[in-house]
Amino acid sequence: MDKKNIDWANLGFGYVETDKRYVCEFKDGAWDEGGLVDNGMITMSECACVLQYAQTCFEGLKAYTTEDGKIVTFRPDMNALRLQDSARGLCMPELPVEKFLEAVDQVVAANAAYVPPYGSGASLYLRPFLYGKNAVIGVKPATEYEFRVFCTPVGPYFKGGVKPLTIRVSDVDRAAPHGTGHIKAGLNYAMSLKNIVDAHDAGYDENMYVDPQTRTKVEETGGANFIFVTKDGKLVTPKSGSILPSITRRSLMYVAEHYLGLEVEEREVYLDELKDMAEAGLCGTAAVISPVGKIVNHGEEICLPSGMEAMGPVTQKLYDTLTGIQMGRIEAPEGWVRVIVDNK
Ligand code: PLP
Ligand code: COI
Repeated sequence: MDKKNIDWANLGFGYVETDKRYVCEFKDGAWDEGGLVDNGMITMSECACVLQYAQTCFEGLKAYTTEDGKIVTFRPDMNALRLQDSARGLCMPELPVEKFLEAVDQVVAANAAYVPPYGSGASLYLRPFLYGKNAVIGVKPATEYEFRVFCTPVGPYFKGGVKPLTIRVSDVDRAAPHGTGHIKAGLNYAMSLKNIVDAHDAGYDENMYVDPQTRTKVEETGGANFIFVTKDGKLVTPKSGSILPSITRRSLMYVAEHYLGLEVEEREVYLDELKDMAEAGLCGTAAVISPVGKIVNHGEEICLPSGMEAMGPVTQKLYDTLTGIQMGRIEAPEGWVRVIVDNK
């Protein structure tokens, strides 16, 4: 199969239209068969629930070319389950896990020419999403839904690649204590747009959201969870009911413990502790692991000892092990890698 003529090494994190996407509809209480289509445009009522009341949730996962030329996805079953959690949180019908996996497989296989080659540093980003499609004017859930998956080849989420980031502690809250922070609802991202534009204008790469109730604990950024490494080499990650349970973060906790022999703590992380950390990073599908070099808390600059030039040594080991598993250089735990195209 010939690859598309794309400058893989210089791809940013943007939308490139690909050939095929998957569509499946929910009507009269049931999902239809679903299948691939060519058209990336959507037509719907001006009064669609998604347009009026933001009844939509989404997922993000990647397909990779492995060292031995296979095309694989990483833990797609976890995305399928999280989409079900999000759907329940927004009163939407759950998509069966098998249907989700089948949709992702079909989209990757049909767009194999867009899967970046091994070693290019790029990957194929998949965006499954679910939305309420029929017209509703009173505030209530839709009765008709569409589930779609499209894909786009991407490079690094942050412009500098793996250059350490500068983060500011945000004054704006991302999610209320008993709200929607733990699901991947579009509304959580809509609220973050003004704040990310403001952060960029002020020279920061991202916002660090804190718990709205006490404003003393680290939550996450607009699109990634945090990891920290303590001076005695422990991996620490914030525990909160209002952050998205990152699949990357959960995988890193396993990798840290079982591959690298590190002690791992998922617990409340106080802003006061940040000055004592050795390393910090953001983790997520898009972010992979992006090191943090500096955190600014209202004038107080916390410079991580790992500096502004490169990842800290523990973060680097985590990065190498995780990406090694994803690219087939390191043996994966059972069930983590799903082979979609086996070119052997
Ligand atoms: N937190 C938020 C708010 C996100 O949008 C994402 C991205 O999906 C993550 C964390 C990372 O989650 P994952 O590792 O499952 O991609
Ligand atoms: C992902 O990492 O897949 C996300 O959904 C984050 C988004 C901000 C791009």
